[in-house]
Amino acid sequence: MTNFTETDFASLAEQALVRCHTLATFTQEPGQLTRLFLSPPMRDVHSQLEGWAAALGLETSIDAAGNWHAVRHSADLEARTLLIASHLDTVPNAGAYDGPLGVVLGLGLLEALGDLAVPYHLHVVGFSEEEGVRFGVPFLGSRALVGTAEPLLELTDAAGVTVRQAIGDYGLDVSALSEARLRGEVLGYLEFHIEQGPVLEADGRALGAVSAVAGQSRFNLAFTGKANHAGTTPMHLRRDALTGAAEFILAAETQARQTPGLVATVGFIEARPGASNVIPGAAHFTLDVRHAEDEVRRRAQTELLETAGRIAAARHLSLKQEVRMEVSATPMDGVLTGLLGEALEAEGHGGSTLVSGAGHDAMVTGTVWPSTMLFVRSPGGISHHPDETVLAEDVEAALRVGVRFLTLLAEREEGR
Ligand code: GLV
Ligand code: MN
Ligand code: MN
Repeated sequence: MTNFTETDFASLAEQALVRCHTLATFTQEPGQLTRLFLSPPMRDVHSQLEGWAAALGLETSIDAAGNWHAVRHSADLEARTLLIASHLDTVPNAGAYDGPLGVVLGLGLLEALGDLAVPYHLHVVGFSEEEGVRFGVPFLGSRALVGTAEPLLELTDAAGVTVRQAIGDYGLDVSALSEARLRGEVLGYLEFHIEQGPVLEADGRALGAVSAVAGQSRFNLAFTGKANHAGTTPMHLRRDALTGAAEFILAAETQARQTPGLVATVGFIEARPGASNVIPGAAHFTLDVRHAEDEVRRRAQTELLETAGRIAAARHLSLKQEVRMEVSATPMDGVLTGLLGEALEAEGHGGSTLVSGAGHDAMVTGTVWPSTMLFVRSPGGISHHPDETVLAEDVEAALRVGVRFLTLLAEREEGR
């Protein structure tokens, strides 16, 4: 087995961090990193990636869902494919690593492999969308890769633009969406990602393999009451939609605190008409509910929606609710995660596997291909925030484990 003693992993790690910072300069909001699905700065991201991939001699393309692809073919045309991927979109005012780190580490691993032949094709993907910010539904990119994006084409963003139109406006051909579905035999999917939580840091560990990704549900909710004069309407005669929403938000917090492992978040709210001297006649807000066990999540969301109904009735409001998405908890593949565990052990990283509370494209790929994830420690457990960071030595460790994983996988494929 090649032992990679000549490989300068520290420089590759440094390069990966610099690349994340470079990609973070491509934003639709000056002064902060915000890059939604098929927004103009995604073009800059793609052309930057093109340059890095060209230096490695990779074949690149962009599919109809805006996913970026770079492929290194095995000499064996019968070979299966290993996907290494993560996403290129961000939340508003994001950090530099959630998503892009996994893509640049894919390229870093290919650079570390150099000319070493492996008995599988290596295919790096930068997904166009994972966060669900623009259209309220996540995983548009990975869903296109597994062939399940079609039903999402008529979703609209805040400006009323559909996914279909967004694809056309970007200059891509929506009629070719079915061709974005990956054909050919996939032996596995590997995603590197920052942990986005505090567990590895609390354990004093740099890295951890993921056993499962928690299930999640997202809803749009709206209370409607009656807008009226803020100065003349006595408190007992009001039908204030925003105070109803406030009561719901606190009830959701209380329920989540009382249920081990449950997280519930109202991350967006808008009061209408939105003036200091008008009682809010409408409150539109989101609800995000997650738990590692689907049963607990489903029970919790049923109770939360019942709570919203009770609040509406008591306050003489009407309630509208819409399920934006529901994804079951997704176990990672036992064999690939076991191999990742071996690679971690071999590189001196022990410790048990983690459950991911954050959603990941591996939830989508895990429905059709054996999928696994490696988490890199998040200092301070901070993510979805510009302070999100990662340590260079942890990224170097991730590259070493990644290369070890690729060689173990090569041995396994050869023995097939
Ligand atoms: C994606 O980052 C999510 O879990 O919301
Ligand atoms: Mn992510
Ligand atoms: Mn994210």
